[in-house]
Amino acid sequence: MTVKPRIALIPHASPTSPAARAALMENPGFGKVFSDHMVTITWSVERGWHDGAVKARAPFAIDPAAAVLHYAQEIFEGMKAYRTKDGLALFRPEENARRLNLSAERMAMPPIPEDLFIEAVETLVRIDADWVPEGDGSLYLRPFMFASEAFLGVRPASEYIFCVIASPVGAYFKGGYKAVTVWVSDDYTRAAPGGTGAAKCGGNYAASLIAQAEATRNGCDQVVFLDAAERRWIEELGGMNVFFVMDDKRIVTPPLGTILPGITRASIMKLAAEAGYTVEERLYGFDEWQADAKSGKLREAFACGTAAVIAGIGTVKFRDGSFAIGNSGDGEVTSQLRAKLVGVQRGTVKDDHGWVRKI
Ligand code: PLP
Ligand code: COI
Repeated sequence: MTVKPRIALIPHASPTSPAARAALMENPGFGKVFSDHMVTITWSVERGWHDGAVKARAPFAIDPAAAVLHYAQEIFEGMKAYRTKDGLALFRPEENARRLNLSAERMAMPPIPEDLFIEAVETLVRIDADWVPEGDGSLYLRPFMFASEAFLGVRPASEYIFCVIASPVGAYFKGGYKAVTVWVSDDYTRAAPGGTGAAKCGGNYAASLIAQAEATRNGCDQVVFLDAAERRWIEELGGMNVFFVMDDKRIVTPPLGTILPGITRASIMKLAAEAGYTVEERLYGFDEWQADAKSGKLREAFACGTAAVIAGIGTVKFRDGSFAIGNSGDGEVTSQLRAKLVGVQRGTVKDDHGWVRKI
């Protein structure tokens, strides 16, 4: 008896020639170039997850009444495939699967079995292996799920589509690993207790765009959000978590709750502790940030995430002024932690934790 694959291959002629692909991948930027295929899997109340397929990347035909277009039932993940000396690899993909399901729970969406999530991602990376860049680049993977049922009543939809697409990427920030400048927003907050801050849902990002636009207008690369209740505690950036490096081998990062539980954040906490730093997950105020930067107690600060990796924060701007951190450049601890993390991801530093999954 032949077993029907969970993700069937729907053959198609690759639309991109090797020469065209090489040209697209020469300087891909972030999220602008896409690979040839996508994986889709459908969910319905009656059938659960079904009709898994890997096929030509193409537009969706969805009903104008699809629930996602009205009530934003949408969640996503961000992860990368790397080219290592032993072949292609993912970094902690089971953590992305787990987090997607936490987001799904918060948004009243169905969970996807973790092994099916990983199979979908691996299937796409295998079929689009030629799209994984050499050198410093990587193949950014975007698994996502949305409510496809055509229905205008407000309740959890009864049909969903899970999809994975891939995009060869270089550095997230234009300046590469140059320290970035951030804008502390006092107009807008990102998440309130009881809200969706810990979920990776599209709506969080839609709500952050006006604050990010304000940051850009003020010459900054990213926005920093303060907590919604007191407008005092540093939470995170628009698309990254944040760390503060003190002068006494202590590293501070805001606690989980209303922020996204970053996989890079968790990995850095572990690597920093192993390198002899004391990592404190605690509330850290904007007032404290300014005072510590001024007194020199704060040596470095950095942002981290899958897309951005680890980016030093050199300058902080806000409505009433600005301040520099350390020498305004990439700090020593920041670059030490980055070298370690990137080394593990790319297979040049020993993986002591079983974080790297070969494809
Ligand atoms: N915080 C936000 C709001 C994000 O969008 C991201 C990126 O995914 C992160 C933090 C970092 O998460 P991770 O390290 O899992 O990519
Ligand atoms: C990621 O790091 O994967 C994100 O989703 C953040 C976004 C800024 C691209």
